Amino acid sequence: MNHNWKTSLAAQANLHPLRQTSRFLLVALLGLLAANAPAAGLGGAWKIDLARPGGVTLRTYLVLHQEGTNLNGKVIINNSCDLPLRKPRMEGSNAVFSVDWGIEYRVRPEGDILRVTLIYGGSSHEEATAKRVPEAETLPPALLPLPAIGAIPENGLARTPPMGWNSWNHFGEGVNDKIVRETADAIVSSGMAAAGYVYVNIDDTWESGRDAEGNIIPNKKFPDMKALADYVHTRGLKLGIYSSPGPVTCAGYEGSYGHEEQDARTFANWGIDYLKYDWCSAGRIYNDADLRADYQKMGAALAKSGHPIVYSLCEYGMGDVWTWGPKAGANLWRTTGDIQDNWKSMSDIGFNQGRLASYAGPGHWNDPDMLEVGNGGMSSTEYKTHFSLWSMLAAPLMAGNDLRNMSAETREILTNREVIGVDQDALGKQGQCIVKRDSIEIWARPLHDGSRAFGVFNRSEETSAIKVSWAEFGLASKPNALRNLWEHQDVTPALEGWEGQIPAHGVTLLIAK
Ligand code: GLA
Repeated sequence: MNHNWKTSLAAQANLHPLRQTSRFLLVALLGLLAANAPAAGLGGAWKIDLARPGGVTLRTYLVLHQEGTNLNGKVIINNSCDLPLRKPRMEGSNAVFSVDWGIEYRVRPEGDILRVTLIYGGSSHEEATAKRVPEAETLPPALLPLPAIGAIPENGLARTPPMGWNSWNHFGEGVNDKIVRETADAIVSSGMAAAGYVYVNIDDTWESGRDAEGNIIPNKKFPDMKALADYVHTRGLKLGIYSSPGPVTCAGYEGSYGHEEQDARTFANWGIDYLKYDWCSAGRIYNDADLRADYQKMGAALAKSGHPIVYSLCEYGMGDVWTWGPKAGANLWRTTGDIQDNWKSMSDIGFNQGRLASYAGPGHWNDPDMLEVGNGGMSSTEYKTHFSLWSMLAAPLMAGNDLRNMSAETREILTNREVIGVDQDALGKQGQCIVKRDSIEIWARPLHDGSRAFGVFNRSEETSAIKVSWAEFGLASKPNALRNLWEHQDVTPALEGWEGQIPAHGVTLLIAK
């Protein structure tokens, strides 16, 4: 299940007034449908155990309150996050409600248990049984103390934005040892390694639980993590992994809560070179104000681990992370909710990042989430815009597609060395929008040799003929040289400025010297 954590959280917040209205309507509706009242015996706490790949069982709790005809409560999905019931209602003998993660629950009592049908995004579904449990079992674990706020020394890594691949956007729960090995091979054979991609990152769902000594162990999808790291290392690449400061990850797998130092040691012993650390269920225990101390805890543990590990925070842009991320030991931090493979999601995220430009620099980067290039939800023009914009933003370039089966066009986008050169520029200064004219945005990024990268973006639905004066580019006069990074061509600069046609959702990316 490729759920969308932060988008869901945002949606919850945005829907708050609506929730009030829908509760109002619901009460009225339930009054009308008194004959269709929820079946007796739904109230209480219920647990649902669902089998997942790798021999793992995930737990969801339903906490239901029934007062006469009124049903409300919450779903603690994957034991990770509390979500209110949306639109609870009766349909025949089923109580039906949904949660913001796009899951609908159809529930009917049968003796001591509930029969539950879970419907994912209106398409696939799963049958399950819910057993009654004491409500205390659904509460988060006791709060562990956090360290006093301090500053972790820089680890000296990620002097330019990290480049690599991450399993989540394409594979979700389907990732396994074989896919990671084949991906490492593909990074080398496709020319991506030569173009600068290094990190091969396993996202959520590799975890099983803990052994008798409390050491975290991978599930059956990953039989030998050290052997996998060795395999990746012999190809000249580095291996990344994922965990959470909470007891469970966003997908409900084992997290590092209370085991931070032990897990950092385990990761170091396996030869792990990169950790993505995802807030998830920590939000059931701590407040937003605790983000820094909690992330610092793992930052300190990684620093003590004796192995260089890039530290990537995933907190969906909460808590003004950019103001304290480096002090928590972070090399990068997420500035947004989860990206989706469509123009709206990508462009809403990407074009909104300029405000954070001053926080990025060598060793510490804003992360607007991983790439969707090649996943099929956008056109090639849009993927070029995605890749160009991320490069102007000095964003980490983490491919999120199936590298083993990509088209030549996708490979050309991901390996465009001229565009990658902008992303990886040694000065490490993030670009910003300097001119906004209707749907046209001009972004500029200073480069280490005194030249400047410019992105002329057309966010409209139509091809636009565009003229931009050198003054609008922020240049005192005509540049000596101009290079088009997608055409791979030098352009003779005209006296007045640059002009060209840009397709809908397209970009022209230039370097002016
Ligand atoms: C969150 C993160 C995603 C991904 C999933 C895995 O939603 O933001 O990038 O890691 O969790 O469960």
